[in-house]
Amino acid sequence: MGREVLWYAPGNDSYDKAMTSILEKGRLLRDRLGATVPSAINDLAVVLGEMRLIKTPEEQEILAQACRLSAEGHSEAMRFAAPGQFEYQVQMAVEYWWRQRGSRHNGYPSIVAAGANSCILHYVDNNSEIRDGDLILIDAAAEVEGYSSDITRTFPANGVFTAPQRALYEVVLTAEKRGVELAGPGSTLSTIDDEAVRILTEGLVDLGLLPLSVDASLAMHHYLQFFNHGVGHWLGLDVHDRGAKRIGGLSRPIEPGMAFTVEPGLYVAQEKPEIELVLLEYDREEWLARRLREGREAGASAEAEEKDRAEKITHQIPAEFLGLGIRIEDDVLITTDGNVNLSASVPIEIGDIEALCAEKSRLPL
Ligand code: GLY
Ligand code: MN
Ligand code: MN
Repeated sequence: MGREVLWYAPGNDSYDKAMTSILEKGRLLRDRLGATVPSAINDLAVVLGEMRLIKTPEEQEILAQACRLSAEGHSEAMRFAAPGQFEYQVQMAVEYWWRQRGSRHNGYPSIVAAGANSCILHYVDNNSEIRDGDLILIDAAAEVEGYSSDITRTFPANGVFTAPQRALYEVVLTAEKRGVELAGPGSTLSTIDDEAVRILTEGLVDLGLLPLSVDASLAMHHYLQFFNHGVGHWLGLDVHDRGAKRIGGLSRPIEPGMAFTVEPGLYVAQEKPEIELVLLEYDREEWLARRLREGREAGASAEAEEKDRAEKITHQIPAEFLGLGIRIEDDVLITTDGNVNLSASVPIEIGDIEALCAEKSRLPL
């Protein structure tokens, strides 16, 4: 008997149902009429994921266009935004720019978060009034021919950073620049992640947001109080694109043609002037492996038990940092000897941001 193969990506309930019924019919046709029908299924998602990971020159150009256009929208937001507007008005300015230039869709729902809203990771309400003294965090991107960019910038609504905003911003900026510097062939996403987390932790200790040494804060993962997402993900047809991040348990080497984000951040929740820190060193990889082995719930409850048993301390957050949320997110395309930062045209340096904020909007409004 032949082993005809069906290539199919399972995972969508209604398609899976339809496929089951097709396979059932196929079985009947084979049994009754001797028809040739597939007897094996290969997961197409794995193959497509790998194909999507390395961009062809044509894909690279489209992605670069999506990033260029997205960057222009972010620059316009810096010119346009002002205290007294609502977040959705700034969202309108960014998206108007993109629609006028041929992008019909956003890559994902736009986040325009002023003040303490910037500490809410997937904030998409965009309905608060922007106040004088707020930072505005915008995570938004245009899609071009199905390819998404993914850019975040954080800037002062009134055009000038305050001293604490500047201090925290500089920490994230240092992590961001180092991450982009490390993005090249042979490096890995986890190398970039580790380096960025170390820089963020150094800054947190320096500014009095964490009380212990840098090494202890890293070993006990206390930085997670202020930074609890990854530093990067693949980018392409999806904003979080397909393709394995690991091979044989290890972070996979970065190769030319890959595209991904570098997006460190720090978020100091307004409503947590005092934090509790667990004095427990642990290996995040081991905990993650346990969750995968034993299931998410069982793993999480084992983690909670270990934390419950450990000693704890409390720490007061310096008041001037409360309610500040900062993320900087760039998109890099890997070349044979490094990367091209596809979102570099929208400023990240404090002086450049303040200069752009001082410019007049270019929208015909
Ligand atoms: N905009 C989604 C993300 O930054 O991952
Ligand atoms: Mn991202
Ligand atoms: Mn983003």
